[in-house]
Amino acid sequence: MTQESNQADNVKVGIDKINFYTPNHYLDLVDLAEARGVDPNKFLVGIGQSRMSVAALDQDIVAMAANAAEPMLSADDRQEIGLLVLATESGIDQSKAAALFVQDLLKLNDDLRAIEIKEACYGATAGIQLACDYVRSHPGRKALVIASDIARYGLDTPGEVTQGAGAVAMLVTGDPSILAIEPESFYESRSTGDFWRPNYSTVAFARGKFSEEVYVGMFEELWDKAQQQGVASPENLQALLFHIPFSKMGRKGLRTLGNGKINEADYVRLTERFEQSIVYGKEVGNIYTGSIYIALVSLLENDKSLKPGDRIGLYSYGSGSVAELYFGTLQPGYRERLDTQSHRALLDNRERLSMSEYEAMFSAQLVADGSQQDLGRSDHSADAPHYLKGMKAHERQYR
Ligand code: CAA
Repeated sequence: MTQESNQADNVKVGIDKINFYTPNHYLDLVDLAEARGVDPNKFLVGIGQSRMSVAALDQDIVAMAANAAEPMLSADDRQEIGLLVLATESGIDQSKAAALFVQDLLKLNDDLRAIEIKEACYGATAGIQLACDYVRSHPGRKALVIASDIARYGLDTPGEVTQGAGAVAMLVTGDPSILAIEPESFYESRSTGDFWRPNYSTVAFARGKFSEEVYVGMFEELWDKAQQQGVASPENLQALLFHIPFSKMGRKGLRTLGNGKINEADYVRLTERFEQSIVYGKEVGNIYTGSIYIALVSLLENDKSLKPGDRIGLYSYGSGSVAELYFGTLQPGYRERLDTQSHRALLDNRERLSMSEYEAMFSAQLVADGSQQDLGRSDHSADAPHYLKGMKAHERQYR
């Protein structure tokens, strides 16, 4: 390793600010269970979810991404951002990066790289790692990484209960206020057919059980590798976050550490912290790329016992499949950076949909013939200044 790269590794970089947005409508999963003739406990306990956010057409991934980032950015941030990454698997264009629309809505500098990253639910972690490298090599600049997705599996399908919508925005900087990310991480890529969405389809296809196997298997491999290298010693780990498309999936990953694989006290501590990490996700549902990062916000805002200096692990997984296990340390003053009250209000103030309203919202589509379409505004709250106004000559019109 050269002296320069050693120095770059020693610079502290990581998440300085984090915020999420989720649309203001939700479906209660007991209503879904009753409508589909399923025991509600299958969804509440077996899947481990209670509600899912539903996005109206005007809250597409661009609008949600801008709404997640808008409240946390200062005027200085907007000037200093040199990299904007939007991670999504709900892309709106085959060519133009959704990040460019977001750059415009957020009134960011022109002096930046704006790109979109796709690798299923792993995309935002690729963005975070890219952002950390960028900040290490461009001292004084910042990177904005936004995960934004609408998880759609189709009406009356096994995957229907694992839908959701939302975005998480993270500002990556030097000397971060929330989480300093370690340069060393463990990753693996392997082509699998566990989940995919062909270009012609508005809904995803999944081999759900197979996906769980790959997810758990890759976690075990990466955990063992990190253990062997002395990087994941459980006694030095205060929490372990998982990609959580639905909470049972993360729980299955965590359970592989039970049965004596790590000592009981460590397992109990990681399990208690896991429960805090799923509080928000259980109400928002699956947000693909953002799922692990909403788990991070949930952990930090709901757990009262973590403290600066505590080390946490993050297991990120994207079907197809790419997985990464990485680590970070909570920074002094991280609690002051959180916005627990607003996040709780965002979740509590959503409007509950009836089944017929949900099905209508799910089935609504943007026009695809070049005609003009004016959308109503679904969220009038201060949380959603950005929205898709409609379509005109095959182009999306934002406000
Ligand atoms: N009370 C309590 N639990 C109950 C119950 C009841 N009455 N009835 C059933 N259950 C339990 C079952 O025992 C089962 O538990 P385990 O998983 O612990 O065995 C659980 O509820 C689910 O029951 P089923 O296995 O019968 O459920 P299902 O066949 O309907 O499918 C699913 C569940 C596979 C999760 C399905 O919803 C699905 O395919 N969802 C999509 C999954 C997916 O997207 N996978 C990819 C994930 S990775 C990712 O996020 C993708 C990415 O990168 C984009």
